[in-house]
Amino acid sequence: MAIRTIDAVTTWGGEAVALHAGTAAEYIEGGDVLVLPNLPFETASEERSLLTASASDGHSKNISFDPATGRLDDCAFTGRERERLARMLGRFVHHAGALIDGLLPRYRPTRAPSLASYRPIEIEDRPTTVKQDDTRLHVDAFPVRPMAGGRILRVFTNINPDGAPRVWDIGEPFERVVQRFLPLVPRYSPFGAWALEWRGRTRGRRTEYDHVMLSLHDLCKLDAGYQATCDKTRVEFRAGWTWMCYTDQVSHAALAGRYVLEQTIVVPVSAMADPERAPLRVLERALNRRLGRPRRPGRVRGL
Ligand SMILES: [Fe+2]
Repeated sequence: MAIRTIDAVTTWGGEAVALHAGTAAEYIEGGDVLVLPNLPFETASEERSLLTASASDGHSKNISFDPATGRLDDCAFTGRERERLARMLGRFVHHAGALIDGLLPRYRPTRAPSLASYRPIEIEDRPTTVKQDDTRLHVDAFPVRPMAGGRILRVFTNINPDGAPRVWDIGEPFERVVQRFLPLVPRYSPFGAWALEWRGRTRGRRTEYDHVMLSLHDLCKLDAGYQATCDKTRVEFRAGWTWMCYTDQVSHAALAGRYVLEQTIVVPVSAMADPERAPLRVLERALNRRLGRPRRPGRVRGL
């Protein structure tokens, strides 16, 4: 696991980006974080007023945006400001999609459209429970939308107008997380998964893969000793930088910063250049059995 930088990517798509496709796929599928320090997301002067913590209605740490409908959730803005934010996020979604299509063209036919988010609240100020506390190292897993093996690829960009960085810790490789916490994962209950779906707590049936990934997410965060002692690397993503990684594979903690845009892209394991690197396959090798057939997941909601 490493921080990899490609300085030469300066546009959100096109031939100049496609030149780096092979390198980018190797980094991303290898579990690295790819940083593009010369790829800022430009905001227009009339969008600067959107960069305020009061954009949030206080119910959630993020404002979510559904590119299919233009809907914003957990946003306090009304009227023109709300429309302006939706337009800005729509532009970011378009840019992020073009970037992924350029850098990871083999994902293009199967990548699923997903929600984007705007993160206007300073991480350090956010009250939260331990399991929701993203300042603790974790791998991403969705409690509401089962992924059934599908990958969580995320593109971030820091648009902080004051120049403050987004600060992450990057933890140990996924295989080491699995080695440490897999023996502690409680037994999967197909009935429990059915009941969660029946009660509307999940959108679709939680598979054993989802159960294990959620358990790894929780076990990492709940283990104070692990958080204090495990190997980690501090990274500062500066304002104007864009970065991406598979957050279901890269152990990460977001420590500080605000005014970050994020786009989630769901990638089927079968679309990967090397599916054996997917968490699904890593877990199956560790357990020496299949975790259910991966299927193409639906759109991601309720992250
Ligand atoms: Fe995360």
